[in-house]
Amino acid sequence: MTGTFIVTKEHRRFTEFADAVRKQHTIGICFGPAGVGKTLSARRYAHWDVINSFITTWGERGDDYPKICAAAHRARTVFYTPRISTTTKALENDLDSATTQVDQCASEHLRLHGQTVDHSGRIPWKPFVELVTIDESERLNANCLELMRDRYDRTNVAFILIGMPGIEKQFSHYPQLYSRLGFAHQYRTLGHDELQFVLTRQWKKLGKTLDLDDFTDAQAFATVERITRGNFRLLERLFPQIERVLKINDLDVITNDVIEAARSTLVIGTT
Ligand SMILES: Nc1ncnc2c1ncn2[C@@H]1O[C@H](COP(=O)(O)OP(=O)(O)O)[C@@H](O)[C@H]1O
Ligand SMILES: [Mg+2]
Repeated sequence: MTGTFIVTKEHRRFTEFADAVRKQHTIGICFGPAGVGKTLSARRYAHWDVINSFITTWGERGDDYPKICAAAHRARTVFYTPRISTTTKALENDLDSATTQVDQCASEHLRLHGQTVDHSGRIPWKPFVELVTIDESERLNANCLELMRDRYDRTNVAFILIGMPGIEKQFSHYPQLYSRLGFAHQYRTLGHDELQFVLTRQWKKLGKTLDLDDFTDAQAFATVERITRGNFRLLERLFPQIERVLKINDLDVITNDVIEAARSTLVIGTT
């Protein structure tokens, strides 16, 4: 699974949610269990893999520079993961620099396309960035949440706070923040049909074809579904083990037993 991002229904739902938060300039909460794909969706929405690799080095302008600038201009989003026990000062600095960098990339895109961007007359500088997505937001303490809320009030930027189920209740202790929340979005596990789609790809990766009319395959599918409950991270951990079990036992077919044997090597999270 590593490497290829699959545009799932949950990812599309996340995209709609993020678009709505951004458009309505509000604060949204996205919550869901560990391993369902929240972080990957949010990074993808922000084109963060492309943008971040550039802004962390800041300087090297390779052939993909126009592509990076175009991505920043299109996404207008900062993806941010707070450090553990972050201070308000560090949070403020981090958000300032990430926002400035994405802004610069976005304005570069316009410049590369022949438009002039006049920063001088725009005080306070009106940023391109329209959305800041904060992952692992349970790491933010009361002061950091207050800082974020204040930024939200002072700027034109929308926020999404991502976390585990329960953050929506955690935030209800902060009336100032809570009264500004626009949407709460639940990120769910893969549904039956999507799991089928993902498993078909996994089978293919191992050089096999998943055929649910075949009894063995149908049973194997049911076992994976029961074990992982549609959780992406568990799938990701289970499949290398399946591959290993096949190899060391010189087997060719992914059966129930193979999956159970693979599962037994995974200690955490599958019971
Ligand atoms: N849309 C996706 N396409 C492919 N793999 C995914 C996708 N979403 C999640 N995964 C896999 O599941 C793992 C966990 O996803 P992640 O976004 O970190 O979950 P969360 O943030 O909800 O805990 C990822 O490392 C990745 O391997
Ligand atoms: Mg995550």
